[in-house]
Amino acid sequence: MRAMRHFSVKLNDGHSMPILGFGTSAPTKVAKSKVEEALERAIDIGYRHIDSAYIYLNEEEIGRAIRKKIASGTVKRDDIFYTSKVLCRVAYLWSTFSRPELVQTSLEMSLKKLQLSYVDLFLIHFPIALKPGEEILPKDTDGKLISDTVDLCTTWEALEKCKEAGLAKSIGVSNFNVKQLEMILNKPGLKYKPVCNQVECHLYLNQSKLLNFCKSKDIVLTAYGALGSDPEKEWVTKNYPVILEDPVLNAIAEKHQRTAAQVALRYQLQRGLVVLAKSFTEKRIRENFQVFDFQLTPEDMETLDGLNRNLRYFKNTYDSEDSSVTIEIGEIDMSGTNSDEVVGSGAFCPGEFLYLAHSPCSAHVCLTAYNTGNENLLCLRMG
Ligand SMILES: NC(=O)c1ccc[n+]([C@@H]2O[C@H](COP(=O)([O-])OP(=O)(O)OC[C@H]3O[C@@H](n4cnc5c(N)ncnc54)[C@H](OP(=O)(O)O)[C@@H]3O)[C@@H](O)[C@H]2O)c1
Repeated sequence: MRAMRHFSVKLNDGHSMPILGFGTSAPTKVAKSKVEEALERAIDIGYRHIDSAYIYLNEEEIGRAIRKKIASGTVKRDDIFYTSKVLCRVAYLWSTFSRPELVQTSLEMSLKKLQLSYVDLFLIHFPIALKPGEEILPKDTDGKLISDTVDLCTTWEALEKCKEAGLAKSIGVSNFNVKQLEMILNKPGLKYKPVCNQVECHLYLNQSKLLNFCKSKDIVLTAYGALGSDPEKEWVTKNYPVILEDPVLNAIAEKHQRTAAQVALRYQLQRGLVVLAKSFTEKRIRENFQVFDFQLTPEDMETLDGLNRNLRYFKNTYDSEDSSVTIEIGEIDMSGTNSDEVVGSGAFCPGEFLYLAHSPCSAHVCLTAYNTGNENLLCLRMG
């Protein structure tokens, strides 16, 4: 792994992961050809860690860009660290109909699109599952996503099989909270621990508790949305504070003669996270890679820690109305409930704030527990 050899972290299964990753998820209106061009530039610049997922619907273009760079001699396959993620509804199908081969099917579908023989990392994308069907995102007649129950432990066992089959070098999770991680770690007969947990993490949601937990278990925490993501994305809340415009961040950037984006990324690296950064703009792809040649001071780090406000940009909701509500998550009794409309999911913690798109006709929004069969997933119900 030539360009990034010095900038990798050793995973708990012995493999290495470059600590800066190239994000590839873009708003649906962006032409898929953009990711191909951007990834080719990124590989030229030195990125070796590429993050995608079946659901981004760009693995064909990504595979083409990687194969082009291999053919031109820029990289070898084993220089590249490629991450994909299981399709939620396949996990569901597998769980409900006891068809473990369907998790592997999701991975094989990715590999077919990529035209690669393995991925370096395969993740459970969300600790929720969607109703099976033809559509990738099954929706009801009101356009709402249809979710259902899944046993995360059996899904994990299917990932272990993918690793043993040589289709994924490493396996991990995404959007898991401490309880969900503990469930996997405490699973009887666990063969492989997750190597990482990929979650939303940035200056306004620094995930310090989850980070400490992951460090104590030798699980890498990978940050997505580290630059504040893109409000053009369907899943990202609009009208929230913009990280890269934060005056404190910009003052530190100016002091180091760096950009706000470089400091936002460097902050995560110095905390021991792996960080993802998406840009399809050549100048920014280059800029985001220049984060290995400067150091934030302990005082800078402390000041940046102080910016945390438990603000979550990703609502994982299907409700795209512009008006929004803010909810502080409290302690919730998660026993014996069912949800009808899940509008949020992820590694939520009590005390966090959620900004949600809110339909004006909804009288109220309430937190409820979504009974996953594991009694550990916080979700929200619009009422
Ligand atoms: N596991 C999950 O559930 C999950 C969820 C979300 C994301 N992810 C992964 O994490 C990656 C990163 O997250 P993300 O794409 O949501 O957000 P992000 O990397 O925080 O931000 C991307 C946005 O920042 C802009 N940007 C990039 N560099 C910049 C710079 N130097 N200065 C100013 N603006 C800059 C980009 O615009 P331009 O492209 O126009 O430059 C884009 O609008 C994704 O691409 C995906 O691979 C995973």
